[in-house]
Amino acid sequence: MQATILDGKATAAAIRERIGQDVTRWMQSGGAVPCLTAILVGDDPASQVYVRNKHRACQQVGIDGRVERLPAETGQAELLELVRRLNADPEVHGILVQLPLPQADDPAARIDPREVLDAIDPAKDVDAFSPVNVGLISQDRPRFLPCTPQGIVRLLAHYGLRTAGRRVVVIGRSDIVGKPIAMMLASKDGVCGPDYANATVTLAHSRSSDLPSITREADILIAAVGRPELIRGDWIRPGAVVIDVGINRVGDRLVGDVAFDEAVAVASAVTPVPGGIGPLTIAMLLQNTLDAAKRSAGGQTV
Ligand code: GUN
Repeated sequence: MQATILDGKATAAAIRERIGQDVTRWMQSGGAVPCLTAILVGDDPASQVYVRNKHRACQQVGIDGRVERLPAETGQAELLELVRRLNADPEVHGILVQLPLPQADDPAARIDPREVLDAIDPAKDVDAFSPVNVGLISQDRPRFLPCTPQGIVRLLAHYGLRTAGRRVVVIGRSDIVGKPIAMMLASKDGVCGPDYANATVTLAHSRSSDLPSITREADILIAAVGRPELIRGDWIRPGAVVIDVGINRVGDRLVGDVAFDEAVAVASAVTPVPGGIGPLTIAMLLQNTLDAAKRSAGGQTV
């Protein structure tokens, strides 16, 4: 059997086209130009590429994308001051602090990412990293959904790959992907309806014993652990759906957390790396920014 390759690039392009139309309608009806401000501290090459891609994607759909660039030596107080200024700026609907933040050698000069993220107004927290937004997701009444997990659900829905009643195994317990996707797929009312929620979810991680026996139980396997090609073909149940969130640089190649060629021979559907979940993450950021602009016009503060 040869798996279907789930085309995240094409799916994201279709979603972005729809968001662009939505932005136009919103502004024609008198809405303010949705505005996303990204804060980029230091000169990490990967972060620069991510922020540039986000900025370009904003422009393509009519969102005002702004970037605040700060030197690597920026201190905690200065960064917090910028976040507070953006919180108070009514023109700015979404704020994103690109991670990772640089880590100074001197402990006294080190930025505490948690404190910076916590300072973002939850109503502008388009990454959905704040405790308020995480709490709302855990209570199945989300305001913002984090971009990568939301992208995963939308890709599954685009291909009609239902999760309700099925066994999902998530590998990786990060705040950005693993924990929120586990909560979202176990919830009753998913972002794409109950067919794409209501799963029986196992959250495994690097300390789980006998990972292959856990992953073989999965109807839908989501790998977000950050270990190049950890998941081999014989870890996958024949006919399973495999979602690979990993982006690992190995020499001059980008590889996922799944050994792609082996997965293709066993699974019924697989996401490639690159061109799988990555493009959807940015599309969801645009969606969250538009939602933030609409909510702010309605006077909602969370
Ligand atoms: N760095 C890697 N992924 C992300 C993300 O989703 N949001 C932010 N702000 N930084 C990241």
